Amino acid sequence: MVFGTLDMRKWRRIQGQLQRDLWEGRYRHSVATAEMAVRLAPRFRVEVWRARLAGLLHDCAKDLSPARMLRVARLRLAGPAGPAATRPSALERRYPSALHGDAGAKLAIRRYGVRDRRVLAAVRDHVLGRQRMPALSRLIYAADMLEEGRGYRGAGELRRRASVLSAGEIFRRAVAAKACYMRERGLPLHPRTAGMLEELESKKR
Ligand SMILES: [Fe+2]
Ligand SMILES: [Fe+2]
Repeated sequence: MVFGTLDMRKWRRIQGQLQRDLWEGRYRHSVATAEMAVRLAPRFRVEVWRARLAGLLHDCAKDLSPARMLRVARLRLAGPAGPAATRPSALERRYPSALHGDAGAKLAIRRYGVRDRRVLAAVRDHVLGRQRMPALSRLIYAADMLEEGRGYRGAGELRRRASVLSAGEIFRRAVAAKACYMRERGLPLHPRTAGMLEELESKKR
């Protein structure tokens, strides 16, 4: 196991805290996402420790209550705290879970002591995506959709193909799988997601 710039004690502390913050199934999903992220890290050319840390923490805010989710997502923190806090939109107030990436980045700083900008961006971006996502953000977005526990239609096939596909293709397919999942549930498209889809579409042309 590669621990990179975090020592064993810090990893244990982060894992222990996460286990207390999440329900069991979500914790398992987080560990599986970290494992998938580590597996795909060389393809996305990102450091293994960043892949593991961002994968592990990506859903760290998902079990917050809706009210707390909205509050934490809006926190203004010094340092690499992600985009400036803005008032939640009508869509975000209706679906506070859409902000679990934004809230997660804030929790990762405050509760887990993470300072790495790329890791924080990946935690934030994994839910809604955005235009011009950096490699680590794209990796975590994909790993979240590909981890071994995912059972949506086509998940197994995507996991199998992942060993031969390019990073760009893995990411595009993960985005398509999530868009399909959202459509099936009648969930509205967040503007950040729409921006990402537009960007991917324009690259195809
Ligand atoms: Fe998530
Ligand atoms: Fe997730």
